[in-house]
Parts: sequence; structure tokens; C-alpha cells
Amino acid sequence: MPNSTNQFIKPVSCRVNSNGNLEIGGCDLVELAQKYGTPLYVLDEETIRAVCRDYKKAFSLYKKVNMMYASKALCTMATSALMYSEGFGFDVVSAGEMYTVYKAGVDMSKVLFNGNNKSVDELAMAIDLGVGRISVDNFFELSLLDELAKSRNKSVDILLRITPGIECHTHEYIQTGHLDSKFGFDLTQIDEAVEFVLSSNLKLHGLHAHIGSQIFETAVYRDEIDILIRELARLDEKFGLKLDEINIGGGLGVKYVDSDLPPSTYEIANVIISAIEDAIKKYNIDAPAIFLEPGRSIISTAGVTLYTLGSSKQVPKGRKYFAVDGGMADNARPSMYQAEYCAVVANKPEENSLQTVTIAGRFCESGDILIHNIELPELEEGDILCVFNTGAYNYSMASNYNRVEKPAMVLVNNSQSDIIVSRETLDDLIAHDIIPDRLRVDV
Ligand code: LLP
Repeated sequence: MPNSTNQFIKPVSCRVNSNGNLEIGGCDLVELAQKYGTPLYVLDEETIRAVCRDYKKAFSLYKKVNMMYASKALCTMATSALMYSEGFGFDVVSAGEMYTVYKAGVDMSKVLFNGNNKSVDELAMAIDLGVGRISVDNFFELSLLDELAKSRNKSVDILLRITPGIECHTHEYIQTGHLDSKFGFDLTQIDEAVEFVLSSNLKLHGLHAHIGSQIFETAVYRDEIDILIRELARLDEKFGLKLDEINIGGGLGVKYVDSDLPPSTYEIANVIISAIEDAIKKYNIDAPAIFLEPGRSIISTAGVTLYTLGSSKQVPKGRKYFAVDGGMADNARPSMYQAEYCAVVANKPEENSLQTVTIAGRFCESGDILIHNIELPELEEGDILCVFNTGAYNYSMASNYNRVEKPAMVLVNNSQSDIIVSRETLDDLIAHDIIPDRLRVDV
């Protein structure tokens, strides 16, 4: 079975160039750091397109597939336009994500709205923009949405998010399908939810589940699909409801470090398609349309972050620390999930007199360590560190902790680099601050 880009640590176009520097998308990373400053998020268009195509090819045997990129992994107008040009729709979870894809020119019927506590304003916005499906998470949302639909005299197309009760082996914060999860209807509550829907302005098309993120097992998808299809068949029998959609969620893992061995999109597609074939035979229903919501596996490998090395510290008889000009505010994952990353020095990627060092961030917390114990060549102040696999859940989870400006992001391809998110300025940081008149001092 072919490999897919989620199984590589580096972007597909990453290589050492004739200057002896690392390049991505034909752009020298040292030159990018000089031109745009650091920290800098760099995204490789070729890798994004390759993974989108892998997904489409892998699922081409199944005719009714809706690929919905999970915007929470990384949401910008440019990446939305790019993914849309590859035929993807979008899973959005907030007014902000919805607005971003809308402004990027996406046909809103290809958008699906998820979330466990959508606000009235967000639900109203989704209806008014014509979002294709709303995945309703709980009873409170069912009645809110119904009121909004009735007040507009509209019918709203929905899925019901269910909790299938599947535990997958990933960090507990990113497991979502287990029984006491905050997301979705318990299996025992589905009938009551359906009864509500049947006397409402909501039109139910099917069921949705998402079991977790950074998943390496395939068997969990098989179990999830069995439950989703079993429930479709049961609802048909009990209510005469012909539901013909299942949303399987996202979750396929990526390779952050050598020991990570995620399955390819092709393996996942085979498991999903054969699980559907088995389940529709077992429960005797027609093949449903499927929705997939991959986030991380689409965008993670395409992204790297460039940092400039600054201070260093040798703890007597202890660690050697090198500090970079970013850290937990641009990549919260190491401090939040003990996530591991690989890195190389972009201006000397091939040097091999290696030493073990710890890469610290610049933020005022001891826990702000980007990489513990990594082998890197002799480091000097001014070296450019390239951390791999930062496309997903880095910029999208970035903060202004310590009032530090969020980095810029560039998209690279065919030796061209385009800024797609500009670097925040000091004035951006105070743009929403207001000093009451009584505290105002002349400056
Ligand atoms: N669909 C739903 C309903 C989700 O909750 C998620 C992720 C996805 C799709 C996309 O999952 P993916 O393909 O990206 O695994 N911040 C964490 C990850 C949180 C994932 C939340 N839900 C991290 O940095 O690892």
C-alpha cells in the first residue's frame, strides 16, 4: 500500500540546497528567516496538496464521500482557499472559523458546524449563511436551533453527534469518543433526541461521531462505524427514518518523531470502506454517504516553525539549554500534552558532530520547553532552528502570553514565498485596550 504524507516527519519538498541550507518549496529557510523574521510559520503548498490528493485517491473507491477539513487544526483564509481548490469542504466550530471560510469564498453548503456549546448568535449565523449541516451535540442545542429555525420559517439540516463509547490510545485530553466525554448524545439518549427532531423544524440526515485525535489504531474506526450503522438501522426500524449519512470525524495521526508510526490514508480508507461494507450487510441497510473531518493529518506535516537561537545555559553537571525566540505561545503542545518534536539547524542541516541539548522557549514559565534532549550540532547564537510538523494545532492554539506578537506565516511553493498571515505588531497588541478617562495620563 502506498505511503501518504502524514507518515513523514518533513514536508515533501524539504531538502538541502546548494548553499548547504535547508529549503522547503524551493525557498531557502535561512533566507526566509532573514526576509520575514522569526519565529516564522512556514507552510509547504506541495505537501498540503499531496495529502489532500492522497485522501481523495484513497477514498475514491467509495462513491459518496464528503471531505471536510477540520479547520481547528489551522484556519486562515489562504489555507481555506487552498483546501477548497482541492475540493474539500470544512468542519468549523466557531463563528470565527465560519467567518474565515466564508470570507475565503467557500460555498457554505460545503461547511459543517460542530461544537458542544454553540451560541445563539453562532447558530443564527450558521443558518443565515446557509451552512450545509449542523451537527447537534445536546438537547439544549436542539431546542435552541429549533426556535431559530421556526422564527425564520426555515428547515435546518442536521446530524446528531453521538458518543459511541470507544476508547482510543491517545492523550486523554484529545480522546473524545469515550462514554463520559463532554461531547454528544449518549447512545441511550438518541431516541429522545430523534423524537424531538421529528416534531421540529430540523431535518435529520444522519449521525456523527469523533473518537479522538492523533490515532494510530485502525480497529477503533471499525468499531465506530459498526455502532453508527447499527444505530441508523435501529432508527429505521423504530421510527421508519431513512437516514443516509454518517460522519466518522477525524483523528488520523501524524509522525512527530521516529517512533510514531501512523497508518497511511490508504490504510485508513481501506478499513473504513470495508467496515462500512460489512456493517451494511450485517444490519441490512443501504450504503450511507460519509463525511470525514481530518485536521491534523492534512496540515501538520506541511508546516515547520523557524526560530532564531539566542541565549544558552549550561547547568553545572546538568543540562545544556538553548533558548529560541518563541515557544509555548506559538506552540502550546509540548507544555500542554508533553508533545515531542524533531528539529534541525536550517543553516547546518548536515553537520554531524552532535550534542544533546534542550531547546527552551522564551516565555516566563519553567514548563516552556519546546524539545527535551535533542541531538543537534554545535549551536551558536543566530542559528536558525527548524522545528518540523508544526502545521496543526500550533498557530490555531497560539496566544499572546507575555504580550508577545504572534508570528507571521508564509506559504511556499515553486521557489516563491507569500505571506498569508502577517506578523502581529506592538500596536496590534494594544489595539483592543481602553484606558478609562480617569486613568489617562498624557504620553
Ligand atoms: N472532528 C471533530 C469533531 C473534532 O473534535 C476534531 C478534533 C477533528 C474532527 C479533527 O481531528 P484531527 O484529524 O485533527 O485529529 N489540540 C489537540 C487536538 C485536539 C483535537 C480536537 N478535535 C492537539 O494539539 O493535539
